[in-house]
Amino acid sequence: MKYEKYYRLIKAQSEIFDKTQNCEIGQTWKYHLLPVINNSLILAEKYNADKDVVEVAAIFHDYADLLDMANRDKHHILGAEFVEKILQKDGFKQNFIDKVKLCILNHRASVVNEKFSIEEICVADADAMSHLDSVVELICWRAYLGESIEECNKFVKRKIEKSYAKMSKETKILMKDKYDCIMKVLF
Ligand SMILES: [Fe+2]
Ligand SMILES: [Fe+2]
Repeated sequence: MKYEKYYRLIKAQSEIFDKTQNCEIGQTWKYHLLPVINNSLILAEKYNADKDVVEVAAIFHDYADLLDMANRDKHHILGAEFVEKILQKDGFKQNFIDKVKLCILNHRASVVNEKFSIEEICVADADAMSHLDSVVELICWRAYLGESIEECNKFVKRKIEKSYAKMSKETKILMKDKYDCIMKVLF
């Protein structure tokens, strides 16, 4: 696997993160990070994007968050900075690094930045898709943190709404049935 070193780094860091969140070990990797990477690559194929940019950005998109939850509000900005250092050290061209950084900078549903490249759209859409694909994991995460049923429902509903709202028009069409079903179940 081309980026195996990065897969291993993020998987290991996500397991440390799981411990801090009182989650099942491996939960964030299995139900969020790996689906985001896989969905990004599916979308990159579908939308004709640069698969290398998309894959590396998807691997690192929540890196700053995994390092420290205190980074959460700025994890898109810090993640872009951290990945630049790693990729520069590994000898990647600056042009490639800049494209990866933009994908990380613009992946969040709660920070609506204009996206200019198809690679940015692939990573942001894949991140949003993973939230719709992993509703049970999201609910469990909030419950493990000690939230009540009402609080879990409120958090997850808001997250799903924001995730669907940030998707591109094409990805919204792909995910519409699932979105409608989830919204029928949440209260
Ligand atoms: Fe994120
Ligand atoms: Fe994410």
